[in-house]
Amino acid sequence: MACRHFLTLLDFSASELQALIQRAIVLKANLKAGELYEPLRGRVLGMIFEKSSTRTRVSFETAMYHFGGNAIFLSPRDTQLGRGEPIEDSARVLSSMVDCVMIRTFAHENVERFAEYSKVPVINALTDEHHPCQLLADMQTFYELRGSIAGKKVAWIGDGNNMCHSYIHAAAQFDFELVVASPSGYCPSAELVEKFADRVQVVSDPRAAVLGADLVTTDVWASMGQEEEQRVRERAFAHYQVNAELMSLAQSNAIFLHCLPAHRGEEVCGSVIDGPQSAVWQQAENRLHSQKALLEFLLVDTIG
Ligand code: CP
Ligand code: NVA
Repeated sequence: MACRHFLTLLDFSASELQALIQRAIVLKANLKAGELYEPLRGRVLGMIFEKSSTRTRVSFETAMYHFGGNAIFLSPRDTQLGRGEPIEDSARVLSSMVDCVMIRTFAHENVERFAEYSKVPVINALTDEHHPCQLLADMQTFYELRGSIAGKKVAWIGDGNNMCHSYIHAAAQFDFELVVASPSGYCPSAELVEKFADRVQVVSDPRAAVLGADLVTTDVWASMGQEEEQRVRERAFAHYQVNAELMSLAQSNAIFLHCLPAHRGEEVCGSVIDGPQSAVWQQAENRLHSQKALLEFLLVDTIG
């Protein structure tokens, strides 16, 4: 049977995603209670990073160590991937040695091609189009703090980027209303918005998006690979900062999330990200627990 991959949130059913979040909460509690659980002893995760990372690398590596396995960090600087070895060949070779491959890269098509030729599960750890692992942590965090997100309103403020696209998928899979506020020229994929038009709306006014929201979230104005556009983007997004005034339009118990790293004074004010409504540290920690649930889901039942 073909193995499962996790390239976007659409690769899993809504009920599988719900189960994964619940399992993450249990694994987190068990870890904090000191339970030793090593279902991946002797198993290896290959981690290909073509972009920088703090949270994703440390959470996946720690997850594998907690589970009794190992992780190998692979950078294009010191592998043949960086010297032009075809993705298809790399996928065949790596997947003949390791038990799972995690990839952070630029073109989403690259993870799809890798997965097509891989004998083992492939996890998307961020592409220019999607960041599904982050959404597992975000959904876990909302659930822990407020319960089910079904029927709630989520406001995405700023760039219609990879994170925004994964929020669109999450709106469909977790059944919430998503209102995206982006400046012209920086809206999320029109195709994606149209596909999930029953859950997603794009507006230009951030106040309209945040009004009555249960969750307010944003991301950097210039993603990795867009550093040279920083100045142009600062001007385009100047009115899209999540500050105390904007947050005051949301529900009084609204949560603020940010995948991090954050730029205080740009997409978010210190008073919000460091304020009482912010759950960003819990969100970051949950990368570990939700990805442990993901690795267990992908690997434990299939190990003979
Ligand atoms: N949120 C996130 O993916 O962080 P890193 O870039 O540090 O992995
Ligand atoms: N949109 C950001 C997310 C980083 C976790 C980027 O792609 O750089």
